[in-house]
Amino acid sequence: MFSTPLDLAKIRAEFPILARKVNGQPLVYLDNAATSQTPLAVIEAISDYYKHTNANIHRGVHSLSQEATDQFEGARDKIRAHINAAHTHEVIITSGTTHSINLVAYGFGHLLDQGDELIVSELEHHANIVPWQMLCERTGAKLKVIPMTQDGTLDMEAYSNLLNARTKVVFVNHVSNALGIINPIEYIIKEAHAVGAAVLIDGAQATPHMVPDVRGLDADFYTTSAHKICGPTGIGMLYGKEEWLRKLPPYQGGGEMIDQVSFEKTTYADLPHKFEAGTPNIAGGVGFGAAIDYMHSIGFKTLAAHENDLLLHATEKLKKIDGMCIYGDVPNKVAVISFNVAGIHPYDLGTLLDKMGIAVRTGHHCCQPIMDHYKIPGTVRASFAFYNTHEEVERFIAGVEKAVGMLR
Ligand code: ALA
Repeated sequence: MFSTPLDLAKIRAEFPILARKVNGQPLVYLDNAATSQTPLAVIEAISDYYKHTNANIHRGVHSLSQEATDQFEGARDKIRAHINAAHTHEVIITSGTTHSINLVAYGFGHLLDQGDELIVSELEHHANIVPWQMLCERTGAKLKVIPMTQDGTLDMEAYSNLLNARTKVVFVNHVSNALGIINPIEYIIKEAHAVGAAVLIDGAQATPHMVPDVRGLDADFYTTSAHKICGPTGIGMLYGKEEWLRKLPPYQGGGEMIDQVSFEKTTYADLPHKFEAGTPNIAGGVGFGAAIDYMHSIGFKTLAAHENDLLLHATEKLKKIDGMCIYGDVPNKVAVISFNVAGIHPYDLGTLLDKMGIAVRTGHHCCQPIMDHYKIPGTVRASFAFYNTHEEVERFIAGVEKAVGMLR
């Protein structure tokens, strides 16, 4: 039924964790939207860094420090090339998307006035809501919300009506983590720019499935986390257009981010270091670079085609289960399926799947407004990666059928 040019046996052998058992059963890992698994290429890049290079960066004249600096800055340039940014200094290394968004939201605290407006979408992760609410509390700015429709897509007419000359920042995700829907960010960015607003795109859930072209999109800010694309946790990036990064003040003070320090006056380092106080996660940066190389060695078009096959296969089979409700079941989505079965709590279903070795996420997925919209406590979410197989889809479907039979 499905064909894939991916050599899945070879690819899976590169992920040692995929061979383990959970609760006595071979692991079926379908929680890739929470975190992806890590290939040997990334594990070894981190381990080699600690074995052969470990030193602090930008600080020493000694050889190890120079080598560590080259590796870390080399990773920054890989990120730049991957996202098609114009300049390496437009790539800020952060601990992940949450850090990136907080950095930008904090900075806008210095640029907003009472009565300014910010626009968020109902589909956001809490990490793209709460920092902006905190900003509104500090500045008196108002938060407006693009509503979602019942099928999970954003109401673009309502969005157009929210925009006006007071709109200063619009922040939306590229792909919804809870539903997998791909948002029309090209249109969102164009409309926001027409009123002079900046746009931040949370790309955490898009980057596992597609290459973001920040210049093509004309995004002012774009963020992601390495662990969503086979990299390590605790490392991510913020892309910002140079003009915006120059306007924003530093987020944290400390070493690395300064030019001159005295008790009378301290001046700040140039980009990107102005936003990188303290010793960064150097090994994580190296691992991030290795992850980008690894993903490109598979090929984003190839992996996305396979993931889409898995999505169609799983969706078709799930829909045959009595009482099945899939949220965000629209054509324009990545391989994420959020669902409930009538009369069954998502937590119970997820717990029984775990007993069968099948890992899914259950709950609100850090998106309580979406759950409130559907008036549900949460969903079961199965999220697929390129290393998943059709056999795993079959095991997942059989697992859901079995669990539903037990819980009814
Ligand atoms: N944001 C991650 C998820 O959706 C953790 O699971």
